[in-house]
Amino acid sequence: MSASKYMAIWVGVVGGTLLGLMKAEAQSVQALDLEQQVILVTGSTSGLGREVARRLASRGAHVIVHGRNQERGAALIDEIESEGHGSARFFAADFSSFEEVRTFGNLILREYDRLDVLVNNAGMGSSPDDRILSKDGHEFRFQVNYLSPFLLTRILMPLLEASTPSRIVNVSSGAQAPIDFNDVMIENDFSGRRAYAQSKLAQILHTFDLAEELESTDIMVNALHPATLMPTEMVRRLGVEPRATISEGADAVMQLIESAEIVGGQYFNGLRPARAHDQAYDKKARARLKELSEKLTGG
Ligand SMILES: NC(=O)c1ccc[n+]([C@@H]2O[C@H](COP(=O)([O-])OP(=O)(O)OC[C@H]3O[C@@H](n4cnc5c(N)ncnc54)[C@H](OP(=O)(O)O)[C@@H]3O)[C@@H](O)[C@H]2O)c1
Repeated sequence: MSASKYMAIWVGVVGGTLLGLMKAEAQSVQALDLEQQVILVTGSTSGLGREVARRLASRGAHVIVHGRNQERGAALIDEIESEGHGSARFFAADFSSFEEVRTFGNLILREYDRLDVLVNNAGMGSSPDDRILSKDGHEFRFQVNYLSPFLLTRILMPLLEASTPSRIVNVSSGAQAPIDFNDVMIENDFSGRRAYAQSKLAQILHTFDLAEELESTDIMVNALHPATLMPTEMVRRLGVEPRATISEGADAVMQLIESAEIVGGQYFNGLRPARAHDQAYDKKARARLKELSEKLTGG
């Protein structure tokens, strides 16, 4: 099969279809009170996650900061504490290992009696172009960007249920490539861009599925493309010119965390509801992905 067939497509970036139930003047919407809320932002040692963590703390939230880099994690905790508004704690976990994700998730369950928002933001970008494997032997981006957040979300669900109304925000991307269920680990026609885009679409399939599963609960789940080519580490590695600011991306994430005027089960392009890749609306594909994800993560 040709690589071009799997070329990632930027869905919604070019003229995303407006869907849904959000009012156009989203930026001025009524916001929830974040004071004293407990919010986990994965991948908050740099880039977008770091900015979101800073904003949440400045609004009085307790932020669970996560990443692999201890030094950057500790620096962010110091910065938040010196600001004197919210509070924060750093937890290290490498998402290329299910064991580390399980240990991390279980530690959160032990240490906290509530979790108001889970922001699944940690991720690895398209560069480098090499096909590498996770510690569990899976295609690296599929595990770090999709399977590990899937597992973490499952582990933390009882805490989110105990903290309703609560929310899950899945930071996906406009770069979306369909999952080839005959070659999920991309042994053929591999490219870093395809691997990244497949993992990002998988997050959206999971978001739509989970929203249906959680329909009768007060847990809201949405996914988004935060902004196109923000100047973060993963974009620096690509060597392309940034096109948006981190602040724009953080605005979009904050909206899904705190806007009182949105409903769940949606994909947003920045601040607006948009249409994702067609595969996200294919119930059979979603069921297949769910079954596979449960099998690979052990439940
Ligand atoms: N930048 C953009 O233009 C753009 C566009 C669309 C979507 N996004 C999405 O935005 C999210 C944040 O990306 P970013 O642009 O802010 O990139 P970034 O600066 O590279 O940040 C990535 C974060 O993920 C963490 N991370 C990476 N690999 C990890 C691993 N194996 N285990 C645990 N944590 C890991 C990193 O922490 P450590 O370094 O401490 O491990 C870091 O905090 C990603 O999901 C990305 O797909 C970004």
